[in-house]
Amino acid sequence: MMSIEETTLKKLLHSAVQAKENSYSPYSGFRVGAALLCADGTIYTGCNIENAAFSPTVCAERTAVVKAVSEGKRSFTAIAIAGDGSGYISPCGVCRQVLAEFVNPHEFAVYQMDRRGNYRKNAMEELLPFSFGNADLQGE
Ligand code: THU
Repeated sequence: MMSIEETTLKKLLHSAVQAKENSYSPYSGFRVGAALLCADGTIYTGCNIENAAFSPTVCAERTAVVKAVSEGKRSFTAIAIAGDGSGYISPCGVCRQVLAEFVNPHEFAVYQMDRRGNYRKNAMEELLPFSFGNADLQGE
């Protein structure tokens, strides 16, 4: 798994906590923030954005990915996720699949924080083993 320099990691974790402040979550009351580190060192943040119709709700992680990709970034090193729960926040299945589209599952690191700022780190391949990807689609 990719190891990140200490100052960069601190910045990434802090960015996720900051992004949580913009969460629009009137239905669940559960705020989430994410910070995606690009290979070029830039960071894209995201928050969860809920909807009265519920299913259009977008998670913080996907907000960050969509922002980055739409700005031309496709190479990612790590993501930090900050939630309001007492335990480490675990990215949902949809977000794992969306991240898997762009990352090296062996190298990409997912930092899952609790509300106090402690974190657990997993490689993408641990969170989404046997994932369906582009190669499967090509019949390879
Ligand atoms: N949520 C995220 O934004 N990311 C996660 O990793 C888990 C769940 C959001 C979706 C919804 O707005 C709220 O948290 C409760 O599920």
